[in-house]
Amino acid sequence: MIIAFINEKGDPAPWREVLTEEVPGLDFRVWPDEVTDPAEIDIAVVALPPPGLLKTFPNLKAILSMWAGVESMLLDPDLPRDVPIGRLVDRAMTRDMMHHAVHWVLHYHRDAHRYAEQQRHGKWKSIPYPEAAERRVGIMGLGALGGAAARALSDLGFTVAGWANNPKSIDDVEVFLGTDGLIPFLQRTDILVSLLPLTPATEGLINRTTLAHLPKGAFIINAGRGASVIDEDLIESLDSGHIARASLDVFHTEPLPADNPYWNHSKVDLTPHVASHTTPRTAGREVAQDIRLVAAGKKPRNLVKLDRGY
Ligand code: GLV
Repeated sequence: MIIAFINEKGDPAPWREVLTEEVPGLDFRVWPDEVTDPAEIDIAVVALPPPGLLKTFPNLKAILSMWAGVESMLLDPDLPRDVPIGRLVDRAMTRDMMHHAVHWVLHYHRDAHRYAEQQRHGKWKSIPYPEAAERRVGIMGLGALGGAAARALSDLGFTVAGWANNPKSIDDVEVFLGTDGLIPFLQRTDILVSLLPLTPATEGLINRTTLAHLPKGAFIINAGRGASVIDEDLIESLDSGHIARASLDVFHTEPLPADNPYWNHSKVDLTPHVASHTTPRTAGREVAQDIRLVAAGKKPRNLVKLDRGY
């Protein structure tokens, strides 16, 4: 197997190490320097490949993503549509995302933001908080990441529901489905965690209308994709007090431009797309497993379905 590593911002060295160790005989070529004949490449292992590039490899058997989210690749009008694409699902990444969701839910549940403000004013005052079971957490997207977050938050005692496209079963987690389930899901959600992939159906889904269905004082945690949110609508809901506070890790444009109003918004907790990272040591083993499957004439796991967009 000859693979092309296509990741202009990533360091190929740790990937070369783990993939060649996991797949004996693997020929690992870093694009562009080490790819002299694109026809030789069997598999492209990619993160944010430049549009138009993948079609220049005529003999690809698979495309394997080093990212969980593949939306930017799917926007490539020249994406070879008959080549199977595998999305990254990695235990370490799933665990880190679960930590991020748990961290921010606990942060808001136990008023960490209000104590930080009180400290700035030298104020000693305890704030009553509801029992965890009275705090209704709602997870949008119940895939690998959202499912793990839902389980962990439910284990911590929160009343957890999820919103998904397809039926899922998670102990003690009520699942709301599709368009019909959206409004009832929002109406019962005090802390909304979005781990949605970006697809035509989820773009702009968190907007003035949907935000209005959340109870007054709800919190938003977005670690899925920035474009799921209409920023002006969220800012308006924060300013009116309908939404209490938002933790945002992902944005329409990253890095977030210096003049973006989120930077200085007093009700926004901003992190620079760090909720969960791809770590070559663990993710490399997942990619290696798919390389072995493809070498054996099989398809990668976690196949992207082009019609649903993830
Ligand atoms: C990160 O956002 C990813 O999609 O892996």
